[in-house]
Amino acid sequence: MFVHQCRLPHVLKPSLYFCPEQYQKELNVLFRPSWQIVASLSDLPNDGDFVTRELFGTPVIVRNFGGTIRTFLNVCPHRHCLLSHEESGHSKELTCQYHGWQFNADGRTGKIPFAQNFRPMPGGPECLKSFRTEVRGPMIFVTLDDNAPALGEVPGPLIPVCDEFPAERWQQAGTWSYDFNASWKVVVENTVEAYHVPTVHPKTLVSFGTEEEIEHVITPDGTIMRSPIVSPDLYRRVANRLLPLLEPGCTHQYRLHHTFPNIFLMRIDAMLQVMTVIPTSPESCHMTVHVFILKAVKETFGSRLMTKLWGKAKVAIIKQVLAEDARLYPDLQRGMKHSPFHGTISTLEELVWAFQDYVRRKCGLEEEA
Ligand code: FES
Ligand SMILES: [Fe+2]
Repeated sequence: MFVHQCRLPHVLKPSLYFCPEQYQKELNVLFRPSWQIVASLSDLPNDGDFVTRELFGTPVIVRNFGGTIRTFLNVCPHRHCLLSHEESGHSKELTCQYHGWQFNADGRTGKIPFAQNFRPMPGGPECLKSFRTEVRGPMIFVTLDDNAPALGEVPGPLIPVCDEFPAERWQQAGTWSYDFNASWKVVVENTVEAYHVPTVHPKTLVSFGTEEEIEHVITPDGTIMRSPIVSPDLYRRVANRLLPLLEPGCTHQYRLHHTFPNIFLMRIDAMLQVMTVIPTSPESCHMTVHVFILKAVKETFGSRLMTKLWGKAKVAIIKQVLAEDARLYPDLQRGMKHSPFHGTISTLEELVWAFQDYVRRKCGLEEEA
């Protein structure tokens, strides 16, 4: 069932999709105080593995220190070089690429080449700047805001869905990312509505069900869409036979959890899909996708094969669907720049309205008459 019975206004004016002042406001109000997914545990499984990321203009390095994940500003306190420019890698010690300063898990300096030349150094050299980091399920979360509430206090289903299965039950089937020439809001809005499915994905997705079958939940912090889905008959028959190998009682019901502003968790049968959309400029954004498949509690040759093949099939379908969406993003952005219209939103698209209304409330924008 839908929450609304009548069509809704397009809350955000087109100019808010490219205006630099609005972009800065969104970074300050929506993003910098939030918790963000920066990687999965599978991206840095071993001691010494690391990834670097750019979060709203802030370079960070996320590293595995003997099983503990820590995040630092990717800047050296010696002469300000990025510690590493590699997107991912492995090193025995966390070492700056420029003069080789080494750092411990707590961010303090370890070995400094020719350390005697820095004498006297009362109190020692500066530490790396660290950021709060938490692991939930298979995902690694970071906040740039020292005063943000604990991740466990984030309202809504983000944490319960991450915690549905322990990290070791999920096998990462794929992770990849895109850079889009469109506002992050364009990509978010497309992700939460199924109205475009028959025109944009006529071959890759089937109907999302009737209004009676679809359920929308709108809260101040996010939205949920539940749908009976979507899957062709053959898919269901294969899934019904094979998925119990991985987890008894797997359901084909599709759940899309949107945690405002930019985190999506999709659950269906034995799969968890995690997507984030990070703004990189007023008119560009970066999307990262992680796909996980359940492993059986007691793995067998058959179940391992199933996890692997199911993952391959899911990744192939998701890539195709996202490529179909991606073709539209530049046109949506260009349309925003030239639109003289107010726009309108159907009840089927009411989760777009809920997202826009969240941006309006948080950014203190006037309601359009
Ligand atoms: S700038 Fe990092 S060691 Fe010199
Ligand atoms: Fe789509």
